Amino acid sequence: MKVTCLWGILTSLFLLMPAHASETTASANAAPVEARNDKFAGQHVDQYNSWKATSEQSEREDALAEDPRLVILWAGYPFSRDYNKPRGHAYAVTDVRETLRTGAPKDAEDGPLPMACWSCKSPDVARLIQKDGEDGYFHGKWARGGPEVVNDLGCADCHNTASADFAQGKPALALSRPYAARAMEAIDKPFDKAGRFDQQSMVCGQCHVEYYFDGDNKAVKFPWDDGTSVEAMEQYYDKIAFSDWTNSLSKAPMLKAQHPEYETWRVGVHGQNNVTCIDCHMPKLQNAEGKLYTSHKIGNPFDTFAQTCANCHTQDKAALQDIVAQRKKAIQELKLKVEDQLVHAHFEAKAAWDAGATDAEMKPILMDIRHAQWRWDLSIASHGIQMHAPDEGLRMLGSALDKAADARTKLVRLLATKGITHEIELPDISTKEKAQKAVGLDMQQIKADKQEFLKTVVPQWDEQARKAGLLSQ
Ligand code: HEC
Ligand code: HEC
Ligand code: HEC
Ligand code: HEC
Repeated sequence: MKVTCLWGILTSLFLLMPAHASETTASANAAPVEARNDKFAGQHVDQYNSWKATSEQSEREDALAEDPRLVILWAGYPFSRDYNKPRGHAYAVTDVRETLRTGAPKDAEDGPLPMACWSCKSPDVARLIQKDGEDGYFHGKWARGGPEVVNDLGCADCHNTASADFAQGKPALALSRPYAARAMEAIDKPFDKAGRFDQQSMVCGQCHVEYYFDGDNKAVKFPWDDGTSVEAMEQYYDKIAFSDWTNSLSKAPMLKAQHPEYETWRVGVHGQNNVTCIDCHMPKLQNAEGKLYTSHKIGNPFDTFAQTCANCHTQDKAALQDIVAQRKKAIQELKLKVEDQLVHAHFEAKAAWDAGATDAEMKPILMDIRHAQWRWDLSIASHGIQMHAPDEGLRMLGSALDKAADARTKLVRLLATKGITHEIELPDISTKEKAQKAVGLDMQQIKADKQEFLKTVVPQWDEQARKAGLLSQ
């Protein structure tokens, strides 16, 4: 692949922004975090308007309807109710309120989910952590944060907005989440010592990462103590015997991968060459006066091909899109193979339990299922893997297929010792609705409760926030 004019971009970047990032994470005695994004609209017009334009990326894609196998793989976990692909940053708060995963809490103490579920949605999280400390922010249920976390993912998530540098139009990038800062230190990339390009990706790496909820307070932690590869994170989770939930069919102790774009980007060819998230997702554009600014309409880089890929590559858009499409197809094919194996494994494990299998007999099988599904999930939950690290995606899926096959070989043997030699039949899971019925979900009730919650509780949250001066309008 021919890469051209890298130096040209570097130069133009530095012309645009001569400062090296000098601001660091907000500290306890800094000015309060301003979470109301429109307070910066007048100061930074182009950045604000392009940020606001992420609301144009409004399309919702229902991943469970597209692929009902997911319902089985996530049986017993809220993801089996509802899972949409990501859309524009402007929707982060709306979507976490509306997803069936967060349920329909009636008051601040009502579950099911913890406060941590707000963590990657809003600059109000940065505000609360600065005000109350991490323990103060994390304690309690998700609904406690309803009247507090109200502004869309924005400026103070990535910038030290209180700094003089920012006021002057410099980036003043900052990690607004202390748990992300600690994780970067764990992989020997302390933010304060990092160069400008490293910092650019790190601000995305506050949220576009794998994480879990740690300890009684359910605080966000990244499982990076042993490294960021799929094996290193798996080893970490096994060591601390962590599981996100127990699959309700197989009873396997499962891990749910989140959205490890930062980890997978690191191993891909662009990450290896330190081509940052920003080089592709936040191009430098010209405003009406011809002045360069960083576009904050973070979306698909192919939409701004001339200012992204074409900065470094000589191929035309169609040629590069075709390469990415081919890789997506290869990953998709292998992904479905792994899913088919895992769906069978979950039902076969259930059959083994039903036939009287013991904990000791099941343990190695359940560990194979856990590891297979973790590797599968980490590869596909990383949206854009076909672009960021296609080889790594295929490698993870290959090892997932291997582990799923191990589980099924052991299951066939175990089932035979219980006198079961016929194939374990699957229920009809050809649609999302049928799959949800097969795992015993009462979707009608869940949806009705949610509607009630959106109609009664959420307007109160907004009203309280407005009264407290947390929202501009
Ligand atoms: C998801 C992270 C993120 C969010 C949210 C974000 N920014 Fe930025 N911003 C960046 C990055 C990355 C850069 C480019 C840094 C660089 O060039 O080194 C940047 C650059 C800037 C700059 C420097 C001038 C320029 O155009 O490069 C300003 C000013 C700015 N942003 C303002 C804002 C405002 C105002 C908001 C809220 C409406 C906002 N940003 C939201 C990540 C973010
Ligand atoms: C504070 C957490 C947070 C930060 C920081 C963050 N993101 Fe996101 N990002 C999200 C969430 C949450 C969504 C999904 C929003 C939804 O679907 O409602 C998302 C969605 C996206 C999407 C999908 C957009 C679409 O239209 O499909 C892209 C691409 C993306 N982010 C890239 C980035 C990049 C690049 C950075 C760094 C400059 C970044 N994000 C920083 C939380 C974050
Ligand atoms: C070399 C360019 C490049 C780099 C570097 C890059 N991305 Fe992407 N990313 C893309 C492209 C292109 C797509 C869309 C792929 C497609 O169309 O199939 C994408 C897709 C995504 C998506 C999925 C969007 C969706 O709606 O499904 C997210 C999220 C994302 N990137 C975040 C990041 C983050 C975070 C980083 C840095 C850690 C990063 N990207 C680095 C080019 C890049
Ligand atoms: C800032 C420069 C830069 C940008 C922007 C960039 N690339 Fe690259 N790209 C590179 C470098 C460097 C390599 C590695 C070249 C090598 O090792 O020969 C590379 C390699 C590639 C490869 C071949 C390696 C592989 O994965 O097999 C493809 C395909 C590719 N880029 C596609 C894209 C696409 C699509 C975009 C836009 C979404 C993009 N690149 C944006 C610098 C860039």
